[in-house]
Amino acid sequence: MERENFGSKIGAVLAAAGSAVGLGNIWRFPIETGQNGGAAFIIIYVLCILMLGLPIMISEFLIGRYTHANTAAAFRIVSNGSPWKWVGRMGVFTGWFILCYYVVVGAWTMHYAFLSVTNTFADVPAKEYGDIFNNFVAHPWLPTVWLWVFIGVIHYVITRGVQSGIEKSAKLMMPTLFFVAVFLAVCSICLPGASQGLAFLLKPDWSKVDSTTVLDAMGQAFYSLSLAMGCLCTYASYFGRTTPLAKSAVNVAVIDTLIAIMAGFIIFPSMFNIGMDPNEVGVGAGLTFVSLPNVFQQALGDGSFLAVVFSTLFYFLLFVAALTSAISLHEVATAYVTEEFGMARKKGAALVTATILVLGTLCSLSFGPLSGVTLFGRNLFSVFDDLSGRILLPLGGMLISIFAGWVLDRKLYRDELSNGGVLKTPYFKLLVFSLRYIAPLAIGLVFLEQTGLFAFLLR
Ligand code: TRP
Repeated sequence: MERENFGSKIGAVLAAAGSAVGLGNIWRFPIETGQNGGAAFIIIYVLCILMLGLPIMISEFLIGRYTHANTAAAFRIVSNGSPWKWVGRMGVFTGWFILCYYVVVGAWTMHYAFLSVTNTFADVPAKEYGDIFNNFVAHPWLPTVWLWVFIGVIHYVITRGVQSGIEKSAKLMMPTLFFVAVFLAVCSICLPGASQGLAFLLKPDWSKVDSTTVLDAMGQAFYSLSLAMGCLCTYASYFGRTTPLAKSAVNVAVIDTLIAIMAGFIIFPSMFNIGMDPNEVGVGAGLTFVSLPNVFQQALGDGSFLAVVFSTLFYFLLFVAALTSAISLHEVATAYVTEEFGMARKKGAALVTATILVLGTLCSLSFGPLSGVTLFGRNLFSVFDDLSGRILLPLGGMLISIFAGWVLDRKLYRDELSNGGVLKTPYFKLLVFSLRYIAPLAIGLVFLEQTGLFAFLLR
C-alpha cells in the first residue's frame, strides 16, 4: 500500500506543532512558571529545551523520517531487531495510554466552551465554581456525551488520512489557535492591574529555584514537546525527504514555547486584575475549570458580552490545543495497527477509536459513578495520568536518547540529518554529546524524582 506523506514542509511543521501545543502549554506551564520564579523558570525551561528537548526531538524526527514507518516498525528497523525495538512498542503503548485520559479533559473543554457561550457563568457566586465543576465531572452521563463527541471529531480527522485529515486540520487549526491566543492575551494585558500579572510571570526570582524546579522544568519540556513516545516519530514518518529536520524541530519548539508564554499573558493579568493570588490555585483542572471561569467573569464584567466572548474563546483555544494533540496521539496507534496488522486505515482507526471509547469512558466515569474504583488510592484517571507521565515518559525519553546517542549508526544519523549531505550540520557533535551524556543523565534524575525514588534515596 502506498504510504502518504505530508504535502508541504509548512504542513509538516504545523502538524508537529499541533501535537506539541496542548493542554500542557495552557494549564500547566503558566502556573509552573509563576510559582517557580517567573523568568528564572522560563530561562531554565528554555535551556532544557535546547539541551535535551531539541536533541531528542531531532532524533525522533530522524528515526521516523528515515524509516517512513510507524513507531514500532521504525525502531525495529533502526535497531536491526535487537531488544531496542521494544522502545518503539513502548512508545506506541504510552501514546495510547496518554490518549485515554487526555480525551477526558478535551471533552471538558467543550462543555466549558458551551457553558461560556450560553452565558451560564453570569452572576454565579465565586465559591460555587468548584461545585459546578465537581457536579459536572461526577454527572452520570453528561461528561461521557462530550467525550464521545470529542473522540468522534478525532476519529473523523484520522480517517480522512494524513494529507486531507491531519495536515489540513493542522493548517486550519494552528493559525486559528495562534490568533485566538494573541487576541486573548492583548485583551488581558489591557485590563487594569495587568502589569502586576506580567511581573509575576516575567520577573526572575532566583530564590525560588532549587533542584526540583530544574527537574520540573525538564519534565514540563518533555511533556510539552510531545517527546519520548513516538508521536513526533510517527509524524516525521510522513515528512518528505527534503524536509530539514533540525530546522523543523526548532520551529516546533519555538511555536510551542511562544504559545505557552502567551497562555501566561492570558491568565495572570486577568487574575491579578481581580486580586487573586496565583500561588493559591493549583495547576491543571483546579485552575482551568474552577478559578479561571470566575476570573474571566469578574475581570471582564459578570455576564457581560465581553466576558462571554473571552471565556468562550479561551475554552475554544483549549479545545483546539487539546484536539490537535489528541489527533497526534491517535495517529501513533492508528499507524501502528494499520501497518503492523495490514488493516485498511478506516478499520485500524476504528479499532483504536473503539478502545479509546471504552477506556476513555471508564476514565471519565472515574470522577462519578466509578469513583469507588481505585488503585493505590487513585481513581482510574489519575492512574493513567501518573503511570504515563511519571514513569513511561521519562523512561521512554531516556531510552530514546541512549539509543540515538550510543546505538544508532553515526553515519546514518549524519546522512539523514543533513538530508544526504545537502544541509550543513555544524551542531552535530554537540547534539551527539547531549544525546550520549546530558540527556540520559538529566532524564534519569527526572525519573527518580517523578517516581518518588529521589526523596526516598535522599532520606
Ligand atoms: N504535548 C501535548 C501537551 O502539551 C501533549 C502530548 C501530545 C504529549 N502528545 C504527547 C505528551 C506525547 C507527551 C508525549 O499537552
